[in-house]
Amino acid sequence: MTSRTSRDVLGRGLSVLGRAIREQPRIFAVAVTGSVLFGGLVIASAYIVGAVVGDVVVPAVERGSVGVAAVALAAGALFGISVLRVVGIFGRRLGAGYMQFRLQAAYRRRVTRRYLDLPLSWHQRNATGTLLSNANSDVEAAWYPIAPLPFAVGTLVMLVGAVASLFATDWALALVGLAVFPALFALNVLYSRWMAPRQARAQRLRAEVSGIAHESFDGALVVKTMGREAQETARFSARAGELRDALIAVGRLRGVFDPMLETLPSLGTLAVLVVGAFRLRQGAITVTELVSVAFLFTVLAFPVRAIGWVLAELPRSVAGWDRVRRVLDATGEMRYGDVALDPADPAPATLTFADVGFAYEPAEAHLPGVEVLGEVSFTVPAGKTVALVGPTGSGKSTIAALAVRLVDPHTGVVRLDGVDVRRLTAGSLAGAAALVAQVPFVFDDTVRANVTLDRPGIADEDVWVALRLAEADGFVAALPDGLDTMVGERGTSLSGGQRQRLTLARALAGRPRLLVLDDATSAVDPRVEAAILAGLRAPTAGGPAASILVVAYRRATIALADEVIYLEHGRVLARGTHTELLATVAGYADLVTAYEQAETDPKQQRTPDEATPLASGLEIEVDR
Ligand SMILES: Nc1ncnc2c1ncn2[C@@H]1O[C@H](COP(=O)(O)OP(=O)(O)OP(=O)(O)O)[C@@H](O)[C@H]1O
Ligand SMILES: [Mg+2]
Repeated sequence: MTSRTSRDVLGRGLSVLGRAIREQPRIFAVAVTGSVLFGGLVIASAYIVGAVVGDVVVPAVERGSVGVAAVALAAGALFGISVLRVVGIFGRRLGAGYMQFRLQAAYRRRVTRRYLDLPLSWHQRNATGTLLSNANSDVEAAWYPIAPLPFAVGTLVMLVGAVASLFATDWALALVGLAVFPALFALNVLYSRWMAPRQARAQRLRAEVSGIAHESFDGALVVKTMGREAQETARFSARAGELRDALIAVGRLRGVFDPMLETLPSLGTLAVLVVGAFRLRQGAITVTELVSVAFLFTVLAFPVRAIGWVLAELPRSVAGWDRVRRVLDATGEMRYGDVALDPADPAPATLTFADVGFAYEPAEAHLPGVEVLGEVSFTVPAGKTVALVGPTGSGKSTIAALAVRLVDPHTGVVRLDGVDVRRLTAGSLAGAAALVAQVPFVFDDTVRANVTLDRPGIADEDVWVALRLAEADGFVAALPDGLDTMVGERGTSLSGGQRQRLTLARALAGRPRLLVLDDATSAVDPRVEAAILAGLRAPTAGGPAASILVVAYRRATIALADEVIYLEHGRVLARGTHTELLATVAGYADLVTAYEQAETDPKQQRTPDEATPLASGLEIEVDR
C-alpha cells in the first residue's frame, strides 16, 4: 500500500464525512456541542481535581485537620461538572445516533429507489446478493464513522484547549504534551493506513458470501434434485473461509495497535510525573498544577481514542461508500417523455414495431454486443390478437420486453397508439400495457394482494372477474381462505399452472389495453389455455377489451390468433394466418409439430420453473 493511496483514503474518507455533515448539519451541531461541552469539562475536572489535591488534601494532611467548607465546595464543583458531563455525553450520543441511523435509512431508501429506476440490463449484470449487500452492509459501512465523529471533533477541540492550558501552566509540561499528542495522532493514522486494504477486502468478501448464499437458497430445488449439496456447501465454505481470514487479518492488526494506543497516554502521564517532579523542585510549578496536568493526561487518553475510531473506520467507510455510489451513479435509467395517455380510455391499443433492432449488452465491456433482433416490423391492430411463434432463443421474450418498454430498441421505434413509447410519461405505459412474463413471479402475500398489487380502484368483484378470465377462479375459490389465502414466498404453495394464472389475473385486473403474454400459459392444460385466450378475445362480464400479443406454441392457441408472426434468429421470417404459414413455411410447420409431439411426451413437459427469463438454456430445443 503506497502512501499516496492511503492519503487518498484519508482524503476521500474525510469527504464522505463532509457529505454526512452537509446532509445533517443541525444534528451534527447538537452532537458536536455536546462533545465540546464534555471536552471542556474534562479539562476543567482535571484542574478541579488538581485544586482539590493541592489546596484541600495536601494542607489537610499537613495540618492534620480537614476544612469542611473547602471539601464541600470541591465536592459540589465535582458533582456539578459530572452532571454537566452527563448532559454533554447525552447530547453527543443522541446526536451521533440520530445522524448515523438517519443517514443509513436515507441511503437505503436511495439505493433501493435507484434499483427500481435502473434498467433491466443493469440488473442482469449485477448479482442479487451484491444488490442486497449494497443496500445493507455497504450503506452501514459508509456511515460507521459517524458514530464516533462528533466525539472525535470535540476531542480535537479539547486537545487544542489542553495544549493551551499546558502552555499556560508550564512550558516543560507543554512539551511533553506536544510530544505525546502528535505521536498518538501519527499512530492512529498509521493504523488506518494499514487497515484500509484489509477492510476493503473484508467488505468485498461480505458481498460475495451473501451472493453465494442467496444463489444457493434461490436454487435450493436444483441443488437438492441434482444432489449438489456437498459441492454447494464447499463453494460457500471456501468463500466464508476467505471472509474469516480477512476478518482475522483485521483483528490481528487491531490486536497490535489497540494496546499501543492504550499505552501511549499512560507513558505520557509517566513523563509528566518525571518532568513535573523536577519542575516542582525548581519551584516552577505547584503541586496543584502537577496533579492537574498528570490527571489531564489520564483523562485525555480515552477521548483521544475517538479520533482513532474515526480514522480506523474511514477505510471501511470509503469502501462501502464507493459501492453505494456505484449504484447511485449508475446511469441508463429510463427517460420518460411528456405524452400522457388517458388512463380511463377503454379502447384497445395499437402496438407497432417499426424496424426494431436490439442487442444485449455484452457480459464484458470489451466484447461486442450480440444482435438478437433486427428489422422487426409488425403491428398488433386494436382489438386483434397476434401470435409470436419461433424457436427457442429467437427473440420472442425480447420483443415482449420491448413492447412494455422494459428495454429500449437500439434501432427503430416501438409505438403505442402511434406514439413512440419513449415519449410517454412514466405511468402511462404501465397503465395501458401489461406483460405476463415467461416466469411468473408471485409475492409472499395473499391472493388478493397478488392480484391488486395495491393498485387503487380494484375491488374484490374486479379481482374475481380477472381470476375468472384467467381461469383461476376455480382453484382460488377452493383455497381455505379464498382471496385471503397466503400463497407463500414466490407462490411455493401453488402449482406452476396456478401461479401462471394468478399472474395473468394480476395483469388483467389493471384492465390493460394491450396484453403481452410471453408463454404465460405454458404450464396450463392446453384446453384451458385455449379457453383463456378465447375468453380474452371476446370478453364478457365486464372484462377488459385488449389487443393481445401472445407468445405461443400450441396449435389450438395459435389458431385463435388473427395473425401469426414467425420469427427465426431475431428476424421476422414470415407472417400470415396459422393455416397459411403451415402450408408455406417449412420451419413453422416443423416447429409446431415438434412442439405437439413434445407435449404428448411426458418426459419433455415444459414447466415454467424450467424456463429462465430471457434465456433459453434450460428449455427443450424444439427445432433442432
Ligand atoms: N440478458 C441477456 N443477455 C444476453 N443475451 C441474452 C439475454 N437474454 C436473452 N439473450 C439472448 O437473446 C436471444 C433471444 O432471447 P429471448 O429470450 O428473446 O428468446 P425467446 O425467443 O424468448 O426464447 P424462449 O423460447 O426460449 O423463451 C437469445 O439468443 C438469448 O441467448
Ligand atoms: Mg422467451
